[in-house]
Amino acid sequence: MTASRAWQRLLPRIEAIRHRLAALESDPSRRNSFVPYGVERDSPYVTVDGERYLMMSGYSYLGLSGDQRVVDGAKAALEQYGTGAHGVRALAGSLPVHEELEAEVARFNGRAAGAVFGSGYAANVGTIAALCGPGDTIVVDKYDHASIVDGCKLSGATINRFRHNDPEHLDLRLRSAPADGLRLVIVDSVYSMDGDIAPLPELRKVCDDHDALLMVDEAHALGVIGATGRGIEEHFGGGDLVDIKLGTLSKAVPSMGGWVAGPAQLIQHLRYHARPFLFSAALAPPQAGAALAALRVLAQEPWRVQFVQQQAARLRGLLNDAGMRTLASETAVIPLVAGSDQAAYDYATACRRHGVIGLPVVSPAVPNTLARLRIAVTARHSAEDIDRAGQAFLAAARECRLLPGG
Ligand SMILES: Cc1ncc(COP(=O)(O)O)c(C=O)c1O
Repeated sequence: MTASRAWQRLLPRIEAIRHRLAALESDPSRRNSFVPYGVERDSPYVTVDGERYLMMSGYSYLGLSGDQRVVDGAKAALEQYGTGAHGVRALAGSLPVHEELEAEVARFNGRAAGAVFGSGYAANVGTIAALCGPGDTIVVDKYDHASIVDGCKLSGATINRFRHNDPEHLDLRLRSAPADGLRLVIVDSVYSMDGDIAPLPELRKVCDDHDALLMVDEAHALGVIGATGRGIEEHFGGGDLVDIKLGTLSKAVPSMGGWVAGPAQLIQHLRYHARPFLFSAALAPPQAGAALAALRVLAQEPWRVQFVQQQAARLRGLLNDAGMRTLASETAVIPLVAGSDQAAYDYATACRRHGVIGLPVVSPAVPNTLARLRIAVTARHSAEDIDRAGQAFLAAARECRLLPGG
């Protein structure tokens, strides 16, 4: 890289990742980031450097990625509309498939209207910044997703954090919020690194006590919790406990995009004020067609949701019985805590030797003493896959001395 003085100022910052990778991914067997996986369309197995592994860290919770009906949905939209949407939604980019998808999002979530963004990230950033501004207060759970945090920063509102899943602390935070201005509380339904669930009824009560709106990110909940995969409200017995629901089309729904569902006036406001909606191209037709088809499959096949829940519970049970820590996970996301960043990489490498991929999540995404493998169970995993994964995780944990008495 050029030695100019201008570049010299930048160098220390961009060198940091090189040093970090040199320590963590010191040889090819330890490589965990940016690995190009050879995906098999109909199975949870992947190929890396000619070797076949059982993937246990993918997001396609319902096993619908590669499902023929979803592929056909993408193909039909591709054939009908082509590869791109020709512009932003407010101008030339709106297609019938976008409107059908938004109607399906609203119906699936039991809300009056829906809006679809280019990604879940864009949905969070755009929605939060379109609703809040200077003088308003946003209170977020300490473990909320980065896209929520970035949306809060962009909004210019005052940002407060409360302790993870602690309604009493939220109450304290809201007590000290200024009397005027909007109050918005934002939580994840299912925390993506821990797999635990927000205590929605208690959070709702605190919000009501303080005239605060409650927004919930269902990225890891749609298709995963609740008897039919409707997410956190269904998990807690139904009813409209959430003011603004938001999620992604890139996990249980195996496409790209983000969504918001809520009252019609709210969605109308977002269509004209959410900057990623207004200033970024509309979802590509095949992506919208795939998402629409997947939501319809999900509505027709709730057994997938129940199957994932059972498989995840079985894997967690198997691991916990042998003394493996899985924090407070109660969903398809199962953290296998290793400790330091290095320990998580050692554990991932050992799992790979046993034929299974569990990807490490390290600081700053998680506290630096709680680095872990982040496991995600999907409907693509058979009972045999779960047994095989469980045995591999335990054998590797023994080798890495992660089990009690180890
Ligand atoms: C909780 C949560 N919200 C939002 C997102 C962003 O979704 P997308 O990948 O569609 O941008 C993610 C992605 O991992 C997530 O975990």
